[in-house]
Amino acid sequence: MSKQTLAPLFKLEENKREPKVINGFYQKDIISVNQFTKDDLAYIFARADEMAEMAQRWGTCDLLKGYTLACVFYEPSTRTSSSFIAAMERLGGKVIPITEGIQYSSVSKGESLIDNMLTLEQYCDVIVLRHPEIGSSASAAKYAHVPIINAGDGAGEHPTQALLDLYTIQSELGKVDGLKISMIGDLRYGRTVHSLTKLLAQYDVSLRFVSPDTLRLPLDLMNDLIDRGINVRETSRVSDVIENADVLYVTRIQKERFTDLLQYEEVKDFFEITPELMTRAKEKMIVMHPLPRVGEIHYKIDRDPRAAYFRQVQNGMFIRMALLAAVLGQA
Ligand code: NCD
Repeated sequence: MSKQTLAPLFKLEENKREPKVINGFYQKDIISVNQFTKDDLAYIFARADEMAEMAQRWGTCDLLKGYTLACVFYEPSTRTSSSFIAAMERLGGKVIPITEGIQYSSVSKGESLIDNMLTLEQYCDVIVLRHPEIGSSASAAKYAHVPIINAGDGAGEHPTQALLDLYTIQSELGKVDGLKISMIGDLRYGRTVHSLTKLLAQYDVSLRFVSPDTLRLPLDLMNDLIDRGINVRETSRVSDVIENADVLYVTRIQKERFTDLLQYEEVKDFFEITPELMTRAKEKMIVMHPLPRVGEIHYKIDRDPRAAYFRQVQNGMFIRMALLAAVLGQA
């Protein structure tokens, strides 16, 4: 049948996918927190506030109707994958979730991850990627034609987590400048710590790092902080920081990153935040954790109003709504 004899199905005069808002994020990959200036952060946080209000009043909206997200996780995830899915759905978009049964080969050898991206981008408008190798998102972004959002590249970075962490600090304590922030746990392999530390270096903060000797913050990160004039100290005892901390940012020892499990066994019970310890903390401070926790924070702390980790989880969805809308030119 020739084309001319068919009545058209759609009236396509209007291009519904024209960007409505051109901002610095439109069609950009989100790979590292280094991409974000203070103005960018203020913009995303203001949009996240709007998303929170929308979600509260309407639940969902049509802002990203007609857009599809591929959520590709080569490593386990509960919060990051489900919050991106929830974010997309609350904005009226669709999701292709790919979280199970993925086999991966080395990114440095290239093929499988890149082919995967080049395939998936035929179906979607943006890809959220988690992969066990440092630099994997940056490699994927080099080849893909849709924006790639890094949801964790091995022990490298986890930029969207750092954004939600900073947003949480700002909304819980009303400011970032002037705060004493203590990072506790696996500072060597913890990618959330790496990203958050880099972001915080833009502010006037004092940073305290608490870890076993083998899991200290990587030297390049530490040197960068010192070069930027940030007040930093390292210790292996939580008791050294508990009294002055405005934020206790607690992290899990990253078992999966250890090549020698004996080394993991040596440090796995390094510390626990207990109700007794919290009696020494300030009245106005917060305890954060990117989660999952595996014994670092006693369950009794959950009832303490200073425990901010589940509010932090909810903030994650609002931040990811703001980011997805910005990258797709709709916010
Ligand atoms: C973190 C991660 O995957 O890096 N979790 C998260 O995204 N909320 C922290 C962790 O796994 O310990």
